[in-house]
Amino acid sequence: KFDGLAMTPPMGWNSWNKFACNVDEKMIREVADAMVSSGMKDAGYTYINIDDCWHGDRDAEGFIHPDAKRFPSGMKALADYVHGKGLKFGVYSDAGSQTCGGRPGSRGYEFQDALTYASWGVDYLKYDWCNTQGLKAEGAYETITAALRKAGRPMVLSICEWGNDKPWTWGPTVGQLWRTTGDIYNCFDCINDHGSWKSWGVMQIVDKQEGLRQYAGPGHWNDPDMLEVGNGMVVNEDRAHFSMWNMLAAPLITGNDIRKMSPATRDILTNKEVLAVNQDKLGVQGFRFATKDSVETWLKPMADGKWAVTFLNRAKKPRAVDFDWKANPVTDDLSKAQLNAATTTYKVRDLWAKKDEGTTKKPFKATVPGHDVAMLLLWK
Ligand code: DGJ
Repeated sequence: KFDGLAMTPPMGWNSWNKFACNVDEKMIREVADAMVSSGMKDAGYTYINIDDCWHGDRDAEGFIHPDAKRFPSGMKALADYVHGKGLKFGVYSDAGSQTCGGRPGSRGYEFQDALTYASWGVDYLKYDWCNTQGLKAEGAYETITAALRKAGRPMVLSICEWGNDKPWTWGPTVGQLWRTTGDIYNCFDCINDHGSWKSWGVMQIVDKQEGLRQYAGPGHWNDPDMLEVGNGMVVNEDRAHFSMWNMLAAPLITGNDIRKMSPATRDILTNKEVLAVNQDKLGVQGFRFATKDSVETWLKPMADGKWAVTFLNRAKKPRAVDFDWKANPVTDDLSKAQLNAATTTYKVRDLWAKKDEGTTKKPFKATVPGHDVAMLLLWK
């Protein structure tokens, strides 16, 4: 793979969660414009990624072309437009014969497609796993990695294999991120049963990250799927969802219509103090420290001895939090980082209220609304 890419979790936007197959160049240009005008670019979001269904047919020589009706100017022109805004450009393909949306897949065309993407100026490839009968995941993803290397243009490779073949065990040397689960479902705490497959609510996805944090780090991230912030959950749920993705050092690929998001959605997605937790250079994924009365305490060690702390209220009703720092010394087995308020006094800041909360000398007390969080930064 290309080293040195995604040294902090990649941040950007992807068309799928909101638009599914309904993609065209006009909308993508408008999203790129909105990325700048909304402040998202300033907050660190970089990638504009087109998911499934941009494809037209292969030509007689096997080269893939975009759907000429939806992308009449061609992909090079669109990539140039996105680059002109100071942003990066991503596309999607599939390891199998066809994409999940029934468009041409890259199987048998890996090296040719990689050359094509490089010639367009692609910076990010999401590579899906539909219609892959007879393929082994690790080998299939190694093939596209080799093809990208041969094409020579550095591209982030997003492995979208849904966690079936333990991509965290081989993904770190093959791509920059790998999906750990099936698709996210725009609901805080539900399972959507489609019959032969299921999609997962935010809490279900969080639970599925258990045991995976040791596989993530700078340049190689667990991907709990793209964000549903702004797609219909209530604001508390959006805030909790976003907080958890930041705590998990997850890629932050937004999936809403950023051309017309509400101020509340924009404020969530562009909270720079929250984003600093995600983008911390240590790159250590957070972990669940304790659970009490439906409230989970999550911790994330950060550079310079800082810690992010999130109290996640999974109940629908408000819950009181009363957390005595001094009575809860922590050593993270993975990073060896220590949080010991009995020997060190930390300053405390509430990252959503944007308010200093004194120090760890006194317990943290708050009422957390249902399906919401209190998210804190501790520093020495
Ligand atoms: C399945 C993936 O998991 C989704 O994120 C999306 O890319 C769709 N396929 C597109 O068909």
